[in-house]
Amino acid sequence: MPLPFIVAWMPGSRKRVPPRPAHLPAGATDFRSRLAGVVSIAWVATGASLAHADRLAGATLAQQGGGGVPACMVCHGAKGEGQAAAGFPRLAGQGQAYLLKQLQAFADGTRKNPQMAPIARSLSAAQMRDAADYYASLPGWRQAGAPHTPSAQYAQGLKIATEGDWTKEMPACFACHGIAGDGVPPHFPALAGQPMAYTQTQLNAWRRAQRTNDPLGLMQAVAEKMSDGEIAAVSRYLENPSRPGKEK
Ligand code: HEC
Ligand code: HEC
Repeated sequence: MPLPFIVAWMPGSRKRVPPRPAHLPAGATDFRSRLAGVVSIAWVATGASLAHADRLAGATLAQQGGGGVPACMVCHGAKGEGQAAAGFPRLAGQGQAYLLKQLQAFADGTRKNPQMAPIARSLSAAQMRDAADYYASLPGWRQAGAPHTPSAQYAQGLKIATEGDWTKEMPACFACHGIAGDGVPPHFPALAGQPMAYTQTQLNAWRRAQRTNDPLGLMQAVAEKMSDGEIAAVSRYLENPSRPGKEK
């Protein structure tokens, strides 16, 4: 949603229209405030239709592909939910800026993956934006199916995600990734609902300095403090996280 749109429609924003001139008779509408109304409607119209066009183009790309680009849904699922068994990540509800950044990184080689690199390289800048807009507009992860099976591994993962381990200066994942791993756009992606295999692969890639496109090396600093067991535990937890404090 464009910022002028939000500003123009905020209840208090009328105060930004200069006060009614003293010579106008009571009840007459000041031309300037009418003009402000027309302008804000124009903002609504153009802003809304532009966003709509991007998402539609992104939806077509996701479902049908085009121009030699395969349909994203083949790997990322019909609704962008990812594929747990194959470890293909969930894209639905992820931040727009984060998705766009990763597509650019696969294309320019700063993030390496043999499946995504050729796909990203075949996308135009506009197609990348469309795909990112589309997937960001889909609903984020919500616990819908069966709750997790309680286990010692899950409990360990919950502790790492919500508290970290200060004995080795490992911060809580949710300190950066938001309450329950919902993400904090634009820089911190959502982790909740990602396939366990995907989270595990990413943490291992950072630990081995194979994924290096994170800002300020923030994720590498976290991952290199983690053992195999901790990586497995937190990845298991994040696949189906309970709300912190409500479950053990
Ligand atoms: C052949 C399977 C395949 C197809 C088709 C595919 N992807 Fe991917 N995608 C992957 C894999 C595998 C990864 C994880 C790469 C890794 O481990 O670094 C990924 C990762 C991503 C990521 C990074 C996600 C994150 O959380 O960091 C984005 C964004 C993405 N894909 C977008 C797309 C878009 C857009 C399309 C369609 C134009 C597409 N993908 C088509 C397999 C695929
Ligand atoms: C100091 C802040 C910080 C902390 C703490 C942190 N992260 Fe991250 N994390 C980031 C940033 C920033 C990114 C985005 C990297 C990028 O832009 O490529 C990220 C990305 C990720 C990703 C990639 C998501 C995707 O869709 O590809 C995973 C997985 C991840 N973090 C897991 C964790 C886990 C698990 C923990 C706790 C053990 C954790 N993070 C703690 C900052 C942090």
